[in-house]
Amino acid sequence: MPNLLYVNSEVPTMETKELGKTGEKIPAIGIGTWKMGAHYNDELSAIRKAIDLGMSFVDTAEMYANEAFVGEAIKGRQVFVATKVSPQHLHYNDVIKACNASLSRLNVKHIDLYQIHWPNSSIPINETMKAMEKLVDDGKIRYIGVSNFSIEELNEAQESMKKYDIVSNQVEYSIMVRNIEDGLIDYCKDEHISVIAYSPLARGAIFDKWNKDLLVFLNDIGARHSKSASQVALNYLISRDNVFAIPKAGSVAHIEENAGAAGWRLSVDEAASIKNFLIAHRMKLQSLHSMGSISPRIVPFAAKLLTFAYALKYGKKRSKKRRT
Ligand SMILES: NC(=O)c1ccc[n+]([C@@H]2O[C@H](COP(=O)([O-])OP(=O)(O)OC[C@H]3O[C@@H](n4cnc5c(N)ncnc54)[C@H](OP(=O)(O)O)[C@@H]3O)[C@@H](O)[C@H]2O)c1
Repeated sequence: MPNLLYVNSEVPTMETKELGKTGEKIPAIGIGTWKMGAHYNDELSAIRKAIDLGMSFVDTAEMYANEAFVGEAIKGRQVFVATKVSPQHLHYNDVIKACNASLSRLNVKHIDLYQIHWPNSSIPINETMKAMEKLVDDGKIRYIGVSNFSIEELNEAQESMKKYDIVSNQVEYSIMVRNIEDGLIDYCKDEHISVIAYSPLARGAIFDKWNKDLLVFLNDIGARHSKSASQVALNYLISRDNVFAIPKAGSVAHIEENAGAAGWRLSVDEAASIKNFLIAHRMKLQSLHSMGSISPRIVPFAAKLLTFAYALKYGKKRSKKRRT
């Protein structure tokens, strides 16, 4: 069973997992903040609600230009703070300078997880990692992470460090973008590197009108657990031992819904059926796309036809299940 974090009262609200092999457990679902800060009051309330619900792991980046907003939202609260240094700031002195600037904007004494946002092949990685180690030694950051690193890049970065481990790799992962299932997740698991899934709701595409049948499918699976489509989509990711997810949600309602994605598990068969559905779904979208390139005018008719064929295939299964 997942570990649960007790918040305020004695009510367990949030599942926690160990970050890398640090011995420290942090919430399985955190808060993504890209594009946050524009709707100041609503988003401030959303982040604070998330913290109250135990999602006390917030992810930002110098690139998001919202660290001061995040700092305001988390002020006086116990939160695991993750931010990122931009790829153009990976020379030794630039890393130190960028970190100091993030500390000041976030208004925190230290950054819990400092991540290299993207690799930059024009700057030697050992120079960057040396700076990251210095930041740990100086107590400015607690853990070193990376983002958008391949297996080779992870290896090279780890080998250029003398004292510390890379504890996490933040990469795109959602039910719709699952390429890391082909090797990176397993590699990270073997190396005790946590995977932090970004864009875990496919940037909202799961709720897109083109994906209506996907939404119906996810809701059907969710109904068996009294969960919604977004909760099923997030649970699929965190069902893996070493995966955390950081959905961005700008409203209290979405935050509350996403918090309910943790603390339970889809069955192995349900997770497999989601994967199979998505393989078929992608093929459907690809065929629509290629039809569109022949003649955009036939797309609406083709879409109806395919949706009908789809409903026949998957609709039947659903109605069969309801009868049992
Ligand atoms: N390291 C990297 O290179 C990188 C790249 C991209 C993202 N990230 C990180 O990952 C975080 C999340 O990714 P993301 O922002 O790209 O996309 P995401 O979390 O996959 O999706 C965000 C979208 O989903 C909607 N949403 C959230 N909860 C929902 C719910 N329960 N029901 C319906 N819609 C819901 C949001 O709407 P509302 O806002 O209206 O709630 C928003 O439109 C970012 O904020 C950032 O911290 C990192």
